[in-house]
Amino acid sequence: MDILEKLKEAYEYLKKQTNSRPKVGIILGTGLGGLVKEIQVEKQIPYNFIPHFPISTVESHFGMMIFGKIGEIDVVAMQGRFHFYEGYSMQQITFPLRILKLLGTETLFISNAAGGLNPAYQKGDLMIIDDHINLQNSNPLIGPNRNEFGPRFPDMSAPYDKSLITNAREFAQANNITAHTGVYIAVTGPNLETRAEYRFLRQIGGDVVGMSTVPEVIVANHMGLRTFAISVITDECNPDTLVPVKVEEIIKVATEAEPNLTKILKYLIVSSQKPI
Ligand code: HPA
Repeated sequence: MDILEKLKEAYEYLKKQTNSRPKVGIILGTGLGGLVKEIQVEKQIPYNFIPHFPISTVESHFGMMIFGKIGEIDVVAMQGRFHFYEGYSMQQITFPLRILKLLGTETLFISNAAGGLNPAYQKGDLMIIDDHINLQNSNPLIGPNRNEFGPRFPDMSAPYDKSLITNAREFAQANNITAHTGVYIAVTGPNLETRAEYRFLRQIGGDVVGMSTVPEVIVANHMGLRTFAISVITDECNPDTLVPVKVEEIIKVATEAEPNLTKILKYLIVSSQKPI
């Protein structure tokens, strides 16, 4: 079945479930579902009810599409995302993004957990992403281009919205939240990196490394969405002092940092929708 037909079926299903046409879409990362508590939920739809939707296979990710309001703003949040390492294709991982666009999303907020490559970063800090390097060795736009969504060769000179970055930095500073700004490198995982790999990733210009976000951001840019993404630093990836990390520890650190992340996202979501 053609992707456009699949999208249409998923969209038709969702249209029957809710009248909400949110301009704001949110994708929440590992251990970072707390923003959901800020949503006055109108409708929750498990991913497995939505035609052609992939199903999250990672224990720490719920699979739920949540429609509701943050303050006065209509939002749709994806609690649980899909990773390349789960075995999905890049097109499958980004299928939900196409749906968000069809539902009316114009601005996208993404969170993730990432390892800190920059030696100045500490566990529990946040980093606002202002650029990325795609080392996943694949790309969700490979294949026939869908002109109805965007151009064959999308520009990537500023994949993350500059004014949202500035607002986030100012808000973090005013609220004593440590939020760096830097470069996210996407790898496939699922293993964490070797010392030699961390050294390499730092040398090529990475500040953090993670296993998600970049496919979504590529597709969001393809469709012209205004995009903001932020990482929680869950482990320190200094090759000379590296200690083994467990995924439980990563989730624990993410959960602890989550309230600050939620504060920033909530502020940005509400302020980004104010008329200028
Ligand atoms: N590497 C890749 N992905 C990650 C890491 C890491 O060190 N920490 C959290 N996600």
